[in-house]
Amino acid sequence: MAAKKAEAASAKTPEAGAVLITIKNGCTGCHSVDASPLTGPTWFGLYGSQVELADGTSLIADDAYITESILEHYGKEVAGFAPTIMPPYVFTEEENRGHHRIYQDFEVILQRLES
Ligand code: HEC
Repeated sequence: MAAKKAEAASAKTPEAGAVLITIKNGCTGCHSVDASPLTGPTWFGLYGSQVELADGTSLIADDAYITESILEHYGKEVAGFAPTIMPPYVFTEEENRGHHRIYQDFEVILQRLES
């Protein structure tokens, strides 16, 4: 009983809402969450990791980088991927905050949604 209640509550968290946004927008058609190779770079372990860019520089995937990657990603190209493949997206500030949480905790969130 208690578990069911917790489950219902967790489905209403911003994290779960943000996962639904990514599914609705087809993000996970190009980005895997389990490190398997798709059209875009995997999200597995992305948050806080070092990203190699096509121009030879690298940076840490923090909130600012992730926001830019989603909203204005044409500026920074991940090594081995073409930035023009990803379509432009427009999100509200709240939706975008949800995205940051996804990358911070993606595995936990997905497990929660699947169970
Ligand atoms: C048609 C395929 C496609 C779709 C759909 C797509 N992306 Fe991407 N995405 C890419 C490619 C290719 C790159 C790498 C090129 C670049 O750096 O822009 C990328 C890069 C990114 C990065 C930077 C990743 C990294 O490893 O540094 C983030 C974050 C991201 N996408 C988020 C999203 C989100 C959120 C959505 C849905 C709203 C989405 N993407 C939908 C293809 C896609």
